Amino acid sequence: MHTLTRTVRFAVGSGSDARGVNGFAGNPHVRGLDRHYELQVSCRGSVDPVTGYLIDIKAIDRAVRDRVVPLFDHAVTTNTSPAALLSQTTDTLRSLPAPLLAVRLFITPYHSIEMAAMDPTTVLLRQRFDFSAAHRLHSPSLSDDENRSLYGKCNNPRGHGHNYVVEPAVRCTPDTLSLADLEAITDRVIIQPFDHKHLNEDTNEFNVAKGGVLPSVENIAQVFFSRLAPALAQHPSKPTLERITVWETDRTCATYPS
Ligand code: NI
Repeated sequence: MHTLTRTVRFAVGSGSDARGVNGFAGNPHVRGLDRHYELQVSCRGSVDPVTGYLIDIKAIDRAVRDRVVPLFDHAVTTNTSPAALLSQTTDTLRSLPAPLLAVRLFITPYHSIEMAAMDPTTVLLRQRFDFSAAHRLHSPSLSDDENRSLYGKCNNPRGHGHNYVVEPAVRCTPDTLSLADLEAITDRVIIQPFDHKHLNEDTNEFNVAKGGVLPSVENIAQVFFSRLAPALAQHPSKPTLERITVWETDRTCATYPS
């Protein structure tokens, strides 16, 4: 089986007649203060032995621009929730010439809502956060030479800093967990306890001498998951934290559980 994901960007607000030629930036293109969205459409199935395609991406582009953009045009002028709009979008894209796997709508570059074609009764919310912290990688199980050799600059005695980005992925029933609540809970159990801290020295979770774990990006993702999952479970809507991704730099991230 193969999965193919196509990203389609488009603007909403001026009517879907604002067709452009720059699909990379968005088509229909932005006019004035239009809203700009990004939709990721994933299909799963077998590859055609003649064409080598799972699906012709032009079919996805056409379906989004001809049939989904008008749904958005209507939704932004009414009181439609993102989850309800995503449900309409998923239903519309079921007629694609390949089995629809999931649709993910980026409402902003940092916030998205995803619906699986097989389970339209739940959505997966993601929102990015940032925090800054210092850490040092130094394993007590290794000699000083081995630590220097393994961790290099990350073993410098006084530590060093990162601007981390954190993205929880939370499964919930549509329209039951507000972004405000997700932000408040994440801020309370992850951002506030760790932002502008020296992870090894200021927090028990990453202080090896106090039973903590090394503050590698892998361990940071796991520790954050173990803090956020039970906090979210106390919300009245009973959302489930599926996974959490932490970026240490824009080139390195870890997801737990994978
Ligand atoms: Ni580092």
